[in-house]
Amino acid sequence: MKAVPHLWLHAFWPLLALLSRQSECAAKNGNGGNVVEHHQPSYWEQPPFSQPYFDNTTRRETTTTVGQSAYLHCRVRNLGDRAVSWIRKRDLHILTVGILTYTNDQRFQSLHSDGSDEWTLKISSPQIRDSGVYECQVSTEPKISQAYHLSVVVSKAMITGNPELYIKSGSDINLTCTVLKTPEPPSFIYWYRGEHVINYSQRGGISVVTEKQTRTSKLLISRALPADSGNYTCAPSTAESASVMVHVLNGEHPAAMQHGNSSNSGAATRTLALLLLLLHAGSFAR
Ligand SMILES: *[C@@H]1O[C@H](CO)[C@@H](O)[C@H](O)[C@H]1NC(C)=O
Ligand SMILES: *[C@@H]1O[C@H](CO)[C@@H](O)[C@H](O)[C@H]1NC(C)=O
Ligand SMILES: *[C@@H]1O[C@H](CO)[C@@H](O)[C@H](O)[C@H]1NC(C)=O
Ligand SMILES: *[C@@H]1O[C@H](CO)[C@@H](O)[C@H](O)[C@H]1NC(C)=O
Ligand SMILES: *[C@@H]1O[C@H](CO)[C@@H](O)[C@H](O)[C@H]1NC(C)=O
Repeated sequence: MKAVPHLWLHAFWPLLALLSRQSECAAKNGNGGNVVEHHQPSYWEQPPFSQPYFDNTTRRETTTTVGQSAYLHCRVRNLGDRAVSWIRKRDLHILTVGILTYTNDQRFQSLHSDGSDEWTLKISSPQIRDSGVYECQVSTEPKISQAYHLSVVVSKAMITGNPELYIKSGSDINLTCTVLKTPEPPSFIYWYRGEHVINYSQRGGISVVTEKQTRTSKLLISRALPADSGNYTCAPSTAESASVMVHVLNGEHPAAMQHGNSSNSGAATRTLALLLLLLHAGSFAR
């Protein structure tokens, strides 16, 4: 009598085991993967290709200039019903979950279009302090994540030569401006004299050649006159501007007529400037 249930259990044990396993799977799927696993996943339960994984082809190092929106692209395959979050590593702040922004800082935004694998973190008006590591995280159990490095740099313009330029009337003003430390070429570079954008049509003999590739802009004003003197500023769209004072002088003074670079000591330069100023004033008095 006692042996009968024992035999019965033996006969049905494989079937019971299979049923219990299947119900465990069902519970796990129903809960969106939050059930803690009690056993090692076997190959037929969790084939590797059904799990979310990162598409590793997106760039993980990004450099931008202050104020230029930055985009970090995270691509996740087989996401299923999991969520993609962006975390700031510095303070483990959750920035976005899915397409929602979780921080008060509205400069952080998650960009995603339906059906796409891409979850992009957009950082508007980035500042230097936004530099650092950001993590794209997928809510699998355990979590998987991928780190992205963002550098926010200050881009500056530089005009080759001295910040004070003395030029003989009738010779050319030739200024070269280079944009330094810029990951992207600026979309435009403006030249100003004083407060005003240089007007090409107002006076002949002005040429501006801007090369995106070398991030330079050359301003050439031929046969300059004293009226062309002033504070010349090179203002790229995405960089701090640079200025140079140009003095166009009447009269002759060979030593003073050298363009741009002078390795004189400060005192000698000041004496020279004073001398030129007197010369200049003298030419008006005459
Ligand atoms: C992507 O990179 C992560 C970490 O570097 C690695 O663990 C994972 O296997 C890679 N995935 C693919 C599909 O190459
Ligand atoms: C302007 O100066 C640059 C070097 O600073 C020189 O290469 C170029 O030939 C000059 N252009 C003219 C028209 O003088
Ligand atoms: C440039 O100068 C011309 C001629 O004086 C004038 O008609 C034009 O409005 C000026 N353009 C700008 C942008 O100042
Ligand atoms: C030249 O103009 C720039 C921009 O307006 C200004 O920052 C700079 O102080 C000026 N330089 C001089 C010597 O006036
Ligand atoms: C300016 O002069 C210094 C010292 O003589 C030299 O090292 C530098 O290359 C010069 N710069 C230009 C633009 O000529």
